[in-house]
Amino acid sequence: MVAPDWPAVEPIETDRLVLEPLRVAHADEMAPLLHDERLHEFIGGAPDGLEQLRARYARQVVGHSPDGRQGWLNWVVRHRHTGRAVGTVQATLRLDGDEPVAEVAWVVAAPEQGRGYAVEAALGMVGWLDRSGVRRLIAHVHPDHRASARVAERIGLRATGVLVDGEVRWATP
Ligand SMILES: CC(C)(COP(=O)(O)OP(=O)(O)OC[C@H]1O[C@@H](n2cnc3c(N)ncnc32)[C@H](O)[C@@H]1OP(=O)(O)O)[C@@H](O)C(=O)NCCC(=O)NCCS
Repeated sequence: MVAPDWPAVEPIETDRLVLEPLRVAHADEMAPLLHDERLHEFIGGAPDGLEQLRARYARQVVGHSPDGRQGWLNWVVRHRHTGRAVGTVQATLRLDGDEPVAEVAWVVAAPEQGRGYAVEAALGMVGWLDRSGVRRLIAHVHPDHRASARVAERIGLRATGVLVDGEVRWATP
């Protein structure tokens, strides 16, 4: 198969936030924010240390999986006024037949939560995906994770009856 030509990440601006295309150097700034067990309550796993995060970002900034079948789009979310990084958003693209589908995800640092940043950043990313021709979206959310379910709902996804590894699949209707 010829690898699809996935869109390259670009900066995205919203009212309060700028979404910066991920760089490996972001790891130094993000590691202390993301080194927090609370962020793993519903998504499992454990926080990365600085070296692990650098290595993960180095893989992700390539923009696609080694076989090219997935596009990997990642942004660091920054508050425009204060300049503080507040989280990350991510879209993993694949083709279903000829149609691109994005699996989307969001993380906001614990001290920054509850201010609408996840919804605002996710809406910014979804608008950019739409302009890039990607309109079908999915997300996987733990059934007890009300904040994340609300983000999924606010960006137009609906819960499906499908459970994947204990998480509910949300999808564009
Ligand atoms: C999910 C997460 C990104 C939400 O970030 P956030 O910036 O606090 O979210 P927002 O402030 O945009 O709020 C989203 C919605 O959830 C609601 N909400 C926030 N915390 C909530 C809670 N504890 N219980 C119920 N609803 C909650 C908000 O009121 C808002 O709904 P509204 O638009 O109707 O007011 C954040 O909790 C997080 O990073 N968690 C850890 C990582 C994770 O689990 N990511 C999800 C992977 S799918």
